[in-house]
Amino acid sequence: MKVLLGVTGGIAAYKAAELTRLLQAAEVEVQVAMTAAAEEFVRPLTFAALTGKQVLGSLWQPQVQGEAEFAIEHIAVAQAIDALVIAPATANSLAKLAHGLADDLLSTVYLATEAPVLVAPAMNVNMWNHPATQANLRVLADRGVEIVPPGAGYLACGMTGSGRLAEVEAIAAAVLARLARRQDLAGEHVLVTAGGTREAIDPVRFLGNRSSGKMGHALAAAASERGARVTLVTASGLAGPPRQETVRVNTAAEMRAAVFERLDRATVVIGAAAVADFRMREVAPEKLRRSGRMTLEFEATEDILAEAVERRRPGTLVIAFAAETADLAANARAKLLRKGADAIVVNDVSVAGLGFDSERNAGLWLTRETTEAFEESSKQVMAERILDRVKRLRTATFVSAETELAQP
Ligand SMILES: Cc1cc2nc3c(=O)[nH]c(=O)nc-3n(C[C@H](O)[C@H](O)[C@H](O)COP(=O)(O)O)c2cc1C
Repeated sequence: MKVLLGVTGGIAAYKAAELTRLLQAAEVEVQVAMTAAAEEFVRPLTFAALTGKQVLGSLWQPQVQGEAEFAIEHIAVAQAIDALVIAPATANSLAKLAHGLADDLLSTVYLATEAPVLVAPAMNVNMWNHPATQANLRVLADRGVEIVPPGAGYLACGMTGSGRLAEVEAIAAAVLARLARRQDLAGEHVLVTAGGTREAIDPVRFLGNRSSGKMGHALAAAASERGARVTLVTASGLAGPPRQETVRVNTAAEMRAAVFERLDRATVVIGAAAVADFRMREVAPEKLRRSGRMTLEFEATEDILAEAVERRRPGTLVIAFAAETADLAANARAKLLRKGADAIVVNDVSVAGLGFDSERNAGLWLTRETTEAFEESSKQVMAERILDRVKRLRTATFVSAETELAQP
């Protein structure tokens, strides 16, 4: 595993040397990038000697001689790494990351990489407590950046409070845990449905719903990043994860056909789409004209998720989604049992700013035996939490299968 360790300009910059050693001891290949301010605190030579590699500093004077002579260094580095770790992270650098500024090598790599990012902030207590810093941290956390929080105590500036770089052992442990998670879905083929289907009424109108597809797309992206093969069957116009299969559909019938063509390959099915429950009994061939009163006749669509439970191969996990406005837990548990799924994620869509067509979500995770709450977060963070639980279900399934096999 390769890590780019970004060192920014704070007193704690010297601790990055110890962090380098700890990561190397865990067989992580470390390359260091320093901001200009960091070089005021520690000489690049320290890190070059520890890592045996040139330290990356300037966007304009590439250090790494790649095979391609004209390789653009920050892009090549961004693509080659398994994680970007910034420790210590100054208030200034956190602000740059939160706002997408890319005026040096480190901040440019941050924008260009798809690898997970961890930051370990270190600064004066007032800088830490400042609303600007706290807002920047929230933005980063919402985008899936892992924050290794600082400790409290006596600070180099002479003040006491929060802002002390986390212990390097804790930072190394967080990096190693994240790297382990990086490929924890390798071997799985995750089939995700996303978006709200559209059922034609006539050639110009449709019956739809408010689902944007953001939750399903976040799940597909996160599963892909964690090493799974992904098939995304989506009724949303959002982009699918790169290098994975994205199938575009409109109606419930098209979604059903796309899912069952691919079900045999799936080891996990996540039904995040808001599939129409009804469609027109007959779609009007011509545009319907205005009239005093109109009666449209609908029929029920097929239940894709219940059918997936019936037709799945043994061992395939099926995760349902429910959008509820009241009695979340009771309604979701009833749906879980009715469909026979392994777990269900329930969103409270009655709260403004959460669930449908928003960037954030909250809800519950229910298995047949357990109920857990998902605190409000971005959909990216919620996707990771859902996949953590899918992983846990998978491990539990293995254990129970092994126990069964072990029995005479
Ligand atoms: C002696 C000294 C110590 C500093 N320590 C910190 C620090 O611990 N945390 C921090 O956020 N900024 C600290 N700063 C301020 C940063 O160095 C400054 O904001 C700089 O622009 C950061 O640049 P960078 O984020 O590109 O590394 C310190 C400045 C000085 C002069």
